[in-house]
Amino acid sequence: MFILTSLIAYCLAIAEYKQTVEQTAYGYKGTYKKESGQGPFPPDAETMNFELHIETENRLHFRIFDPLKPNREIPDVILPAEVTEAAQNPNFEITFENNGMQVIRKSTKDVIWDSSTSTRGLVFADEFIQIDTSTSHVPIIYGLHERRTRFALPSKFNYSLYTVDRNTPADGKGLYGQHPFYVELRPGGDSHGVLFLNSHPSEVEVERGFISFRSMGGMLDFYILLGPSQEDVMRQYTDLVGRPCLVPQWAMGFHNCKWGYKSLTEVQGVVDSYRQNNMPIDCIWFDIDYMNEYRLFTLDPVNYPGDKLRAFLKEQKETHGTYSTAIVDPGVFVDENYAAYKELVANKMHLNTPRGDMYIGKVWPGSTIFPDFSNNNIQDYWYKFHKTFLEEMPLDGIWNDMNEIANFCDGYCNESKDREYAWTPANLTVHQTPTELTCHHGPWLEARGFYGNQENKHTAEALRKLRPGKRPFILSRASFVGAGRTNTIWLGDNHGTYSDMEDSIAGVLTSGLSGLPYVGADIGGFTWDNVKEKPIDPNLVTRWIQVGTFLYPFYRNHIDSSSGYHEWYRFGETYTAINRKFMEERQHIQSLFYTLMHESHQTGAPIVRSMSYVFRFDGATYEIDNQAMLGSTLLVTPVLKNNTNTVKGYFPQERWYDYWTNEEDSRVTMKGAEVSLETPLDSINVHIKGGSIFARQRKNALALSKMWDTPFYLTAALDSSLHAEGQLFVDNHDDSNDENVLQMKYTCTNTTMTVRALKRGFRTNQIVEGFMIVGLKQAAIRRVQITPNVAPYSFNYNAEKGKLQIQTTGNGWPVGTELNIQWA
Ligand SMILES: *[C@@H]1O[C@H](CO)[C@@H](O)[C@H](O)[C@H]1NC(C)=O
Ligand SMILES: *[C@@H]1O[C@H](CO)[C@@H](O)[C@H](O)[C@H]1NC(C)=O
Ligand SMILES: *[C@@H]1O[C@H](CO)[C@@H](O)[C@H](O)[C@H]1NC(C)=O
Ligand SMILES: *[C@@H]1O[C@H](CO)[C@@H](O)[C@H](O)[C@H]1NC(C)=O
Ligand SMILES: *[C@@H]1O[C@H](CO)[C@@H](O)[C@H](O)[C@H]1NC(C)=O
Repeated sequence: MFILTSLIAYCLAIAEYKQTVEQTAYGYKGTYKKESGQGPFPPDAETMNFELHIETENRLHFRIFDPLKPNREIPDVILPAEVTEAAQNPNFEITFENNGMQVIRKSTKDVIWDSSTSTRGLVFADEFIQIDTSTSHVPIIYGLHERRTRFALPSKFNYSLYTVDRNTPADGKGLYGQHPFYVELRPGGDSHGVLFLNSHPSEVEVERGFISFRSMGGMLDFYILLGPSQEDVMRQYTDLVGRPCLVPQWAMGFHNCKWGYKSLTEVQGVVDSYRQNNMPIDCIWFDIDYMNEYRLFTLDPVNYPGDKLRAFLKEQKETHGTYSTAIVDPGVFVDENYAAYKELVANKMHLNTPRGDMYIGKVWPGSTIFPDFSNNNIQDYWYKFHKTFLEEMPLDGIWNDMNEIANFCDGYCNESKDREYAWTPANLTVHQTPTELTCHHGPWLEARGFYGNQENKHTAEALRKLRPGKRPFILSRASFVGAGRTNTIWLGDNHGTYSDMEDSIAGVLTSGLSGLPYVGADIGGFTWDNVKEKPIDPNLVTRWIQVGTFLYPFYRNHIDSSSGYHEWYRFGETYTAINRKFMEERQHIQSLFYTLMHESHQTGAPIVRSMSYVFRFDGATYEIDNQAMLGSTLLVTPVLKNNTNTVKGYFPQERWYDYWTNEEDSRVTMKGAEVSLETPLDSINVHIKGGSIFARQRKNALALSKMWDTPFYLTAALDSSLHAEGQLFVDNHDDSNDENVLQMKYTCTNTTMTVRALKRGFRTNQIVEGFMIVGLKQAAIRRVQITPNVAPYSFNYNAEKGKLQIQTTGNGWPVGTELNIQWA
């Protein structure tokens, strides 16, 4: 009865606010004054202030806030931009009517924000704020990371946004990351982005006809980005929250991890087995097993003894070119004799209860306190312990796990009760810290969302001090808006099922639109239920490897302690041979991943892109998430179902070339239709999009670092107007100076290929050994001329296949040399 009446009250409870607005130098300001009625959770604010800044031609920022409340800025998220004056010719118009606001795209008159026809009402109560915008159609929305759901978010759903360790059920509800940002794609192909900048537990309701934004506190703080392509939106978004960090090049290779390697000897055995099976390994990951009773910054003296560990890591790096990373959890074990605990307590830099005691939760080691990363003074502590830790265990990267914060107690570990709220977007107790804690920033309820970001910020700062000039590599589970500037993520604790594999593609795509382009899911599945009765399915592992090879920038095998083993050599020579072939192929295109990573770092573009990102005027692509593209270059159509070798893919109207044969694929080229493809277990469908140029390598080695300097050969695949272009990025693999790079641009027509340097801050002896141009139409080519004439070469032309191959017969062309190649 109570539930029913409060629900009715909720739906009917609307306060009427009167809006007054005046123009200012930077945009508008005004107030909302309450006239009548009452919101669902009174008391409501009587007067709210409103401010709108027209920051750029394509970006507006507005805020509605209660001037009587402390309105704290979310730290380290928005890059500073002093706006003192409105942009001169914005691509949008703003109108105020009906006590609301409309934002209209000038070029199309499309209304992209409309709070003037509110259905749920503007609410500004103590612990509940809400605004909505109407949409005249069923919106196509991507984003609102992190959750496991379709890429195009289903409507009629409340998307909770809060950081939580909830495993990865396919229920569409919030997971580890909190990214209140979405990209909306309208029927004509134009996109815009909306950021609801709020770190409290929040919710976005997507419905036919409207989108509502709700939160437990803070401000109604919005940025609207005009696009109009998704590429534009991502550039505008990362102008605001920072470009994704560039990871070191070894991170583009193969990573192996398992929770449950009982000793260093076992890890050593696994690493050796990869090599004995002629499989490369680029990074060795240490899950919580290496620690002494799971205490932060310690080593298990028996199973992972320091001297042996250091010798092992040194040999791996120096002899094999293999790197290493280990897990760090934020919880610090409560023990008076443990330095990390003593110092944190002495410095009083931990999360507190409202009564001012330190909060004690429970994680792997037992009772733990949690560092307060919102206090910038914690940097000294965090640096100091990383310094000694990395002397003990010389790692190349840090893996910050459990930082949502995950807690084994639901709230308090004793009989104390957490606060209750009139409204929450989800149960904030299960596996979480109490909401009522306090920290340096203020209320934990406001800071919990960006705890991971702040931890990663301090970790990155520590790593920069410890390894000057090198790029830090940090993998985090929790993330908030702007995280990509500092860290990377993976998609969390998935399961060994075909549907988990399929859903990971949407996860990678959404992550890319959240400014986190370097991402992947645990290949093969992290948990397998009951492996004794239902053994791990090697077909699934192989299919997953294929997906990861082309669609996961973060390419890691990982499995939990009770789920057995699925290292890629474990299932007999037939599987090993197939799995090896894909690991080798990954090496062949490592420079494409790395070039795209650099593009992300420069422009915010995702590494892995949806078909709607690349083909925005083709409405048939808008909801596709079982195919995706590596850059705008390769279209990947994987097998994602059990017991089948047939897969259906959609092929937009374009020339498509089979990646494996480099020949135009007549089954799919120029289709704009769905096509069924036979795909035996040892294969995956990959097509080169007409119009692309990219580099591959032919050599393999047992680590990326042993082959990344080997010769490139370039493939140009012409589109229907006989044109193609692409880039290649080369640097010294982990330099933090963005100027020490070589960035080459290739342009091709049916008669000419030109090679130009866009940035030439890095010198290398690496060479290009050949060029392949496919999609030509001429009957014969008799002559190829390359200027300047720096290397001898030969060529051959297959008129039937339209394929011209030019290869060096000497030492090749230095990769930084500008060339004109002409043929007739
Ligand atoms: C979302 O939440 C609102 C407000 O609590 C509620 O009225 C609505 O029914 C919910 N929608 C769905 C699809 O659960
Ligand atoms: C419960 O634990 C907290 C510390 O996490 C402490 O401050 C509080 O006093 C404890 N409550 C009870 C009832 O023991
Ligand atoms: C949230 O979960 C906790 C722990 O399972 C449970 O005790 C509590 O009743 C739940 N709260 C709500 C509001 O459902
Ligand atoms: C795939 O199907 C086979 C045979 O039907 C079954 O044994 C296997 O467990 C399935 N694999 C997965 C991961 O569901
Ligand atoms: C190259 O393409 C153009 C059309 O784009 C065509 O006019 C020209 O004849 C072509 N040249 C050769 C050598 O095929």
